[in-house]
Amino acid sequence: MAVTQADILRALELVKLPASGQSLSASGRVGQVLIDGGKVIFSIGIDATEAQAMEPVRRAAESAVSGLPGVSQVLVGLTADRAPASAATQARQQAHGQAPGQPTPKAAGVPGVKQIIAVASGKGGVGKSTTTANLAVALATLGLRVGVLDADIYGPSVPKIFGITGKPRLVSGRTLAPMEAYGLKIMSIGFLIDEETPMIWRGPMVISAITQMLREVAWGELDVLVVDMPPGTGDAQLTMAQQTPLAGAVIVSTPQDLALLDARRGVAMFKKVEVPILGVVENMSYFICPACGTRSDIFAHGGARHEAERLGVPFLGEVPLAMAIRETSDGGRPIVASDPDSPHAKAYLAIARQVQAGLGGATRAAPRIVIE
Ligand SMILES: Nc1ncnc2c1ncn2[C@@H]1O[C@H](COP(=O)(O)OP(=O)(O)OP(=O)(O)O)[C@@H](O)[C@H]1O
Ligand SMILES: [Mg+2]
Repeated sequence: MAVTQADILRALELVKLPASGQSLSASGRVGQVLIDGGKVIFSIGIDATEAQAMEPVRRAAESAVSGLPGVSQVLVGLTADRAPASAATQARQQAHGQAPGQPTPKAAGVPGVKQIIAVASGKGGVGKSTTTANLAVALATLGLRVGVLDADIYGPSVPKIFGITGKPRLVSGRTLAPMEAYGLKIMSIGFLIDEETPMIWRGPMVISAITQMLREVAWGELDVLVVDMPPGTGDAQLTMAQQTPLAGAVIVSTPQDLALLDARRGVAMFKKVEVPILGVVENMSYFICPACGTRSDIFAHGGARHEAERLGVPFLGEVPLAMAIRETSDGGRPIVASDPDSPHAKAYLAIARQVQAGLGGATRAAPRIVIE
């Protein structure tokens, strides 16, 4: 017999909220319940500050519903519609012994991971994933221990860029081993969310998915974890930026005006959640004709540098529009790994050096001791 919404709400009466002891079904926090055969999907509304405290409730709700007859799969997401109210933020700051006006305490860090940086863009298709992958390989070339977390809920493409097939292995309990390629540890939301999950359900899942990827993956010791963020500056992106203990953000933009406008929104979003902007990368900046070597500034090149200056954030460098970048990126061999001496790889290395400098001492590679 098919499960009904009433059955689900009855099961959720047994799940209690930690602070009030109220039942989840009576709390008014359960969103629309989607039932598709034996699959049940719904979200629990929370304030962004409650994400960690509500994670056990999310799991309890999943297990309560999965026990019902006729249910084959349950997916419950935590949704934060709003940024935490400023009064709540202030109360929290005071609870942490901070004077109001000081930076908001960040989400809890990930043990073993020194710094987490986001690669973001105001709009899709500007080369965010290509930049993430090449920046990560370049940081590893500089001697850092690097991980990549693909948090792009709308189009996880990191597995393809690194040529990874297969699924991560469970190491213990719920903990997954990251995949490995080119000396990097890699985890993608593509491994956690099934491709058939409707787009509108992906947004509500961001908090649980990001929490899971940060905290239920055996990252080991990392100097930097590079996160490929979902494009755009909507609620899902804002929540993710808030829930990830970010040391800084890199904004990718193409030189077109429209992308720059979007980039400006990206910068504003990170400022809002008090994450420092490490800088702006101008991707597909200019084109060098492979036949004649002539350089063409097809998109009115230079806009990102100018815009970065105007916004008072560092300009990290420009990457040309190049067939070799596209082919290696789409072919699972990022150019910094497959052709490290190429000028394109050098462009990424220069960007990586600036990112490393922007992050300060904590990510400095241990000096290499040479015995002659
Ligand atoms: N500098 C470049 N030169 C040539 N091709 C590029 C360059 N950067 C990215 N591309 C190509 O452009 C396409 C989009 O790039 P990518 O997937 O990195 O963008 P994205 O911002 O992550 O997109 P999405 O929003 O879909 O996640 C890919 O086919 C990629 O290979
Ligand atoms: Mg992408």
